[in-house]
Amino acid sequence: MCGIVAYIGERQAYPILIKGLKRLEYRGYDSAGVALLHQDNLNIYKKKGKVDGLVSFADDFDTTSTIGMGHTRWATHGEPNDINAHPHFSGDDHLTIVHNGIIENYDILKQALEQQGHVFKSDTDTEVLIHLIEEVQRSQGLVLEEAVRIALTKIVGAYAIVVIDKKEPNKIVAARKSSPLVVGIGENEFFLASDATPIIEYTKKVTYLNDEEVAVVHRDGTFQIKTIQNEELTPSFQYLDIQIELLEKGGYDYFMLKEIFQQPKTVSDCMRGRLNAEEGWTKLGSVENNIEKFLQANRIIFVACGTSWHAGLVAEYLFEELARIPVEVEYASEFRYRNPVLNENDIVIAISQSGETADTLAAIQLAKERGAFVYGVVNVVGSSIARATDSGSYIHAGPEIGVASTKAFTGQLTLLTMMALNLAYRKGTIAKDFYRQMVVEFSTIPDKIQQTLEDNNHIEFIAEQIRGSENALYLGRGYNFPVALEGALKLKEISYIHAEGYPAAEMKHGPIALIDEMMPVVVIATNKSAYEKIVSNIQEVKARKGRVIAIVTEGDKQIRKMADFVIEIPEVEEIFSPLVSAIPLQLLSYHTAVMRGCNVDQPRNLAKSVTVE
Ligand code: F6R
Repeated sequence: MCGIVAYIGERQAYPILIKGLKRLEYRGYDSAGVALLHQDNLNIYKKKGKVDGLVSFADDFDTTSTIGMGHTRWATHGEPNDINAHPHFSGDDHLTIVHNGIIENYDILKQALEQQGHVFKSDTDTEVLIHLIEEVQRSQGLVLEEAVRIALTKIVGAYAIVVIDKKEPNKIVAARKSSPLVVGIGENEFFLASDATPIIEYTKKVTYLNDEEVAVVHRDGTFQIKTIQNEELTPSFQYLDIQIELLEKGGYDYFMLKEIFQQPKTVSDCMRGRLNAEEGWTKLGSVENNIEKFLQANRIIFVACGTSWHAGLVAEYLFEELARIPVEVEYASEFRYRNPVLNENDIVIAISQSGETADTLAAIQLAKERGAFVYGVVNVVGSSIARATDSGSYIHAGPEIGVASTKAFTGQLTLLTMMALNLAYRKGTIAKDFYRQMVVEFSTIPDKIQQTLEDNNHIEFIAEQIRGSENALYLGRGYNFPVALEGALKLKEISYIHAEGYPAAEMKHGPIALIDEMMPVVVIATNKSAYEKIVSNIQEVKARKGRVIAIVTEGDKQIRKMADFVIEIPEVEEIFSPLVSAIPLQLLSYHTAVMRGCNVDQPRNLAKSVTVE
């Protein structure tokens, strides 16, 4: 939430900042702004709305500068408007800041600063922080990095910040706590950003700041990192491995559509080196390295948010059915505050696309404090969750830029299915023949996803039929109950149609009251095990004149006779069915949202990386 980018070096900063902000726009798009230091002028241009609006505005002004910073905002304190947009100034206008996170004690600090004569222009917590830095700097006569460091010791909350001082024009100071910040190191130039995407065309060498670290980068190519407790650190470097094409739309109208269509490849990429159909095995190095812990685990607790939580729910079915390990699935935001009973025989698996979700990170922290072994299933390489966990696996889905998660969900399912199968075999809860047969079938899933994608036009036609609806219901059973939740989430978040997912049998305990001829009811009806039961559920919907859109297995005749629309998917083993049944639901949401004129990549009020709780 909120994207930060900054540059110091010999190049013009403005084009780097604007390109970087466009890459980071997925993190928030309530407002955008840049600060550019040129000679003695600190020029700040900021506007409510998206980065394109900022560009049209700033293009009329002087943007010359070789040091600057930019911000794209997801509003927390203060409504989205030009004044609350970042960057913010100190009282005497010589310092400027961009910030991602929340300063929780801002109110007390603000009152204290007001008593010292500070006057605030915006409603933001960020402006309080820059006034505090100014006050520390002025009262103690400190260089910028020291003033920032000491001010941060007085802060409660989360921050990734970049600060520039017009009186010290050859340096940028940055710091982080619970919000990500990466420093790109070039030849006599530095790039700072919330993630690596604004940096990769300029340098591959980066260092990720850890919590409570302050970095100062200088125009002469030197830099230092300290903790806010004033301890000098030796930075460790990493080398980025992201292809720029992955950050472009590549001919698709939206990133979301591109990402939906990438899934045959991203699922294969996730399996690469971890699944061998000819030899009939699947394994993950990091599970192997900790195999005793996994084999002896009393239970597994999945912690996650949103779509990643839905992947955890599917995993509950997989791990319990195959590996016979008791599983709980927790919203990270609830888990972290409810004093859970945990011990060293528990394994906590955190699932996150971004690897930055604040609640999931806090849940990991808590689980570690209670002695549990914490494993991460993450997409973004080098992210905070990937670094905070004891061990873990990347899903290798590549950058997911559309705010609605698609390929990360199927990547998470792929990884968790491999894990469950492998552990089940190792524990002896499934027979070798069955294991091998499942591995072979699993290896065909990318082709089956491809086949499902080929039904895109038909799904677009069905979207036309529901585009005018105000509500929708999604029903599924067993492995496909979490998929129903996910389908409903996809529809509501990008098309703004109110949608709810339910276990199909729960419908008659309440939601059935909503069903009438206006209500589309999407039923995932592929399960072999509960087929007759789901047929009955469809009949119950039809008896109340609901419009049924059924996801069925290829060749199904019975449901075709009852449903208003059917979408066929290839036949797969039930344990793999979420990987395929999720696809038509993603496409249905996408087309419905496009037909309703919504910006599917940047739905209102949302941001991709939720770094505030
Ligand atoms: C929905 C969506 C969100 C995320 C949630 C967790 O399409 O994308 O619900 O799944 O914010 O994010 P991560 O997986 O990055 O922890």
